[in-house]
Amino acid sequence: MEPVTLITGCSSGIGLETALLLASRGHRVYATMRDLSRGAALRERAAAAGVELEPLTLDVTAPATIAAAVAVVEEREGRLTNLVNNAGFSYFGILEHFSEDEIRDQFDTNVFGPLRVTRAFLPLLRRDASTRRTLVNVTSLNARVVYPLMGLYAATKFALLGLTEEWRHELRPFGIRAVSVEPGPIETKFGGGSLKRPAGYDPAGSPYRPIVEAAEESFARLTTRDAGPPSKVARKILRAIEARNPRLHWPCGPLTKVSTLSLRFAPYGFVEWALRRNAGLNKIGRITHEEGVGEG
Ligand SMILES: NC(=O)c1ccc[n+]([C@@H]2O[C@H](COP(=O)([O-])OP(=O)(O)OC[C@H]3O[C@@H](n4cnc5c(N)ncnc54)[C@H](OP(=O)(O)O)[C@@H]3O)[C@@H](O)[C@H]2O)c1
Repeated sequence: MEPVTLITGCSSGIGLETALLLASRGHRVYATMRDLSRGAALRERAAAAGVELEPLTLDVTAPATIAAAVAVVEEREGRLTNLVNNAGFSYFGILEHFSEDEIRDQFDTNVFGPLRVTRAFLPLLRRDASTRRTLVNVTSLNARVVYPLMGLYAATKFALLGLTEEWRHELRPFGIRAVSVEPGPIETKFGGGSLKRPAGYDPAGSPYRPIVEAAEESFARLTTRDAGPPSKVARKILRAIEARNPRLHWPCGPLTKVSTLSLRFAPYGFVEWALRRNAGLNKIGRITHEEGVGEG
């Protein structure tokens, strides 16, 4: 029987590439997105590749759309082999600058979203008779280590990694394997159009301004010059799904090898120094008062 796979966030980037790759490998793919009118790129690429996909509306923050998607898959397939929780986005900014609504917005999509979607689809995953069934959570290198000014986002990915560990315990007896796919910087809308900043940040009035400016510059470099292609993550997801006994962590893309090695073998002080240096924060002297940067 062909595997039935549902993926969230397929209008662009990693979700789009994963939908195309899995469809080309014989999966029946439910390529979901919150707004089907944003599916033109996916439809064009699928037509060019000669693969078929099932587009479906699903907003991970809207329980009614999740329930409707479950009803469609249940009626058409009666089962689900793989679920890929990919939809997500990042805020970039100083923790003190975020409003409570912005903090909730970040957690709603990146943590409560995959939690809702997984809980809703688990009965269909349990019903599938395939020997290899996988719950893939796209977390991030930021689920292992925090890049400066990505702490709010990283907190959501740390949380999703924690849920993934719990699902490994809970779902193993059913033969469902939970994995965390952990991309480094990837060239998608993630670091561009999808990136959000705290609306209340006022550079003129913030003592954090030198930190924000340095980190903004390095982040722009990270998400363009240093970034890898989303197809690389799609291939890693496929490998995790096809693995006989998949491990928890699936790092992939630029910087993940060096980060994984550093996290395993170097003292945390070194990792912290390297991150600060990378983000240009090591050049900032002590900020002595609310107005600006001091000497020391
Ligand atoms: N790119 C990177 O450097 C990187 C690194 C590590 C981890 N990741 C993770 O990889 C995943 C995919 O991101 P990407 O890089 O492919 O970025 P992307 O091109 O911005 O794609 C994100 C996708 O998530 C969708 N989405 C956002 N909010 C949603 C919601 N409420 N319901 C349903 N879909 C929603 C977006 O849909 P719309 O088109 O409607 O906005 C879009 O399809 C994310 O979880 C991200 O955290 C990315």
